[in-house]
Amino acid sequence: MVNLGTKIGKLQLKNPVMAASGTFGPEYGELIDVNKLGAYIAKTITLNARIGNPPPRVCDTPSGMLNSIGLENGGLDDFIKNKLPPLKRLKIPLIASIAGDDAGEFKELTRGLSKSGKIEALEINLSCPNVKHGKRDFLIAQDEEATYETIEAVRRSTTLTIIAKLSPNVTDIKKVARAAERAGADALSLINTLVGMAIDIDTKRPVLGNITGGLSGPAIKPIALRMVREAYKSTRIPIVGIGGVMDYKDAVEFILCGASAIQVGTANFINPAASIEIIDGIKDYMAKNNIREIKKLTGALKT
Ligand SMILES: Cc1cc2nc3c(=O)[nH]c(=O)nc-3n(C[C@H](O)[C@H](O)[C@H](O)COP(=O)(O)O)c2cc1C
Repeated sequence: MVNLGTKIGKLQLKNPVMAASGTFGPEYGELIDVNKLGAYIAKTITLNARIGNPPPRVCDTPSGMLNSIGLENGGLDDFIKNKLPPLKRLKIPLIASIAGDDAGEFKELTRGLSKSGKIEALEINLSCPNVKHGKRDFLIAQDEEATYETIEAVRRSTTLTIIAKLSPNVTDIKKVARAAERAGADALSLINTLVGMAIDIDTKRPVLGNITGGLSGPAIKPIALRMVREAYKSTRIPIVGIGGVMDYKDAVEFILCGASAIQVGTANFINPAASIEIIDGIKDYMAKNNIREIKKLTGALKT
């Protein structure tokens, strides 16, 4: 028997595999047993409804995809009234994901979700590359001070586990990782997508309606692994690895680099059962290699 149990802040997960925010809606419940996952992460919500970016919003790229959804969602009230009730029936921990224009919005979202019941953790999306937040022309996760200020505001507003979701669109991930830790984040998740473009040479136009989009999938895995390792070595809080996890081998690579858990995004669009197969694959890998506790694998990279 192998033990896949892992801890993210106060969250005790029965296994380290989650589906990434925005890539796995409740409709997946018709295709797979969602209760087999370590936890369920909802799509990012904002305080007020957002209509998202103009189409086309997704396109294929070599070994990946670009998306520019732009955080389309019905806002906090819609989430609590319409989206949350069916999610409350899940038997696994529920993580909500939030984004805002300023610390005040993050606080309001945090307070609203903290008293709604069932939600055990908040993933703070500091890193969506497809939206413009208020007057700011940079992502929160691109700035140490803005990261600190946002996470501190959330920390003061809740006792729920806080996971700060970081951006790869930075020069030094270590600085932002430390700022989030200092401000009271219980864990870090990384990476969100990398800003990219695709061009149609016949129309001479960008393929995406928003011109740029976020690159995800296997193409970003090497960058994600490097950043997870850097974040792991420069902080003391658990790391959730994200970026191009397509199978159990990718997941094990992230765990060796220091991840206590992983998220599966783009793979869900190709194979809705990817996350479940990854859980089984990790289990087999551990059994074959005589590893009883997954915790022993975290950061076990030999260099
Ligand atoms: C279509 C799409 C929508 C996404 N929406 C969100 C979102 O709402 N919130 C968020 O934090 N990340 C969002 N992401 C980013 C993913 O959660 C993840 O960080 C990223 O795709 C990298 O993982 P992957 O390579 O496994 O896809 C989205 C990604 C895609 C492809």
